[in-house]
This record gives sequence, structure tokens and C-alpha cells, in this order.
Amino acid sequence: MRTLVDTGVYGEYLHYGMPLTLVTVRGNNGQVNVSTNASITPLPGDHLRLAIGIFTENLTNQLIAESKEFVVNVISDDMRGVAKLCGEHSGADTDKLALCDLTLAPSAEIGTPLIAECPLNIECRVESVHHLDDLDLWIAEILAIQVAQDWSDGRSGVDLQRYNPLLYTFGYTLARGPMVGAGSL
Ligand SMILES: Cc1cc2nc3c(=O)[nH]c(=O)nc-3n(C[C@H](O)[C@H](O)[C@H](O)COP(=O)(O)O)c2cc1C
Repeated sequence: MRTLVDTGVYGEYLHYGMPLTLVTVRGNNGQVNVSTNASITPLPGDHLRLAIGIFTENLTNQLIAESKEFVVNVISDDMRGVAKLCGEHSGADTDKLALCDLTLAPSAEIGTPLIAECPLNIECRVESVHHLDDLDLWIAEILAIQVAQDWSDGRSGVDLQRYNPLLYTFGYTLARGPMVGAGSL
């Protein structure tokens, strides 16, 4: 026997714990904004891309439409409070960088700065946008990735033993569990 599931919470199952992020974006007037985002999907293929969903009413969306670039800053599991504040306030009326005492640092390939407190920073340039009702789905090329010493493997990668992002499922948050395999299946 099968039971019909409440479709409203499907994200809790399909989106089983993607790293929670803070997206930085800089508008044409130089204003830098930060907002919490949980809808980032890596896309397969040699051309490095990701997809990100942002509500059109958000300042973040308006500024990405201007600059066509943004940084995905992956937070560590002790940054829940920052994620909450940056997800509850809008940069339209609040300086969230000051509110959360966040530090900006230069990106390697784009003009939009990264957040120094976030151990992993993914610099993106927009390739296309798909308008979905009240949401824009941005497809962006990944131009550079920076990792802080905390998560670095000392070479050019992330040490997955020390990688501790806060995982979010659209319903609850999780810590990363133990690795059960390496490489492909
Ligand atoms: C845990 C969490 C996840 C969120 N994920 C998204 C998301 O994926 N896309 C989005 O547009 N807003 C998301 N939000 C909401 C925005 O962060 C929120 O609307 C914010 O106030 C927008 O700020 P802005 O107007 O400065 O861009 C999320 C909020 C929280 C708390």
C-alpha cells in the first residue's frame, strides 16, 4: 500500500540537505547586499555551472539583474544565527552586513566581494535567467572558488573531513554525516 504525501513539503525529501549559503551581490551603484539562500543546485558537465532560485521581490534578485554576477558563500554549521538574520531582513531597509558584523573581501574573478567569515566562496557570472512566476531561476557559470584555511586540504581542494556546512532541507537543518563512499558509487 502507498500513501499520498503532502506535496507542500516535498523539498524536505528531494532537497535532502544542501549547504545553506549567503549570497553576496553588488548593484551598479556599488551597494553590496547579502541574503540567505538554500536553493542552489550544482549542474553536471565540463562547463561549470550552478542554478539558483531567487524570489523576484528580493533586493538580491534586483541587484543580480543589474550586475549579472554574485558570490555563493557557504556557511559553516555555527553560522545559523547569521543565516536567520540575513534571511529575515531585506537589504532594501537593513544593512545586513553591519547587522551581522560580516567582513567583505575581494573575489578573484568578479567585482562582487565575498564574505570572509564563510569558509567557501563560489564566484559566479550569470549566463541566463528563467522567469517562473514570483521566482527567477538564474543559471550561472562558476569562475572561481576560494576556500579558507579551516576547510582547505592544503592543496587546491576542500578537506571533506573538516567540511562542516549547515545543511538545510526547506524544513529543518542538519549537520553533515559521515562519508559512506568516495569517488563514484
Ligand atoms: C533558511 C532560509 C533559506 C532561504 N532560501 C531562499 C532561497 O533559496 N531563495 C530566496 O529567494 N530566498 C530565500 N530565503 C529568503 C531570503 O533570504 C529573504 O527573503 C531575504 O530577506 C531577502 O533579502 P534581500 O531582499 O536583501 O535580498 C531564505 C531564507 C532562509 C531563512
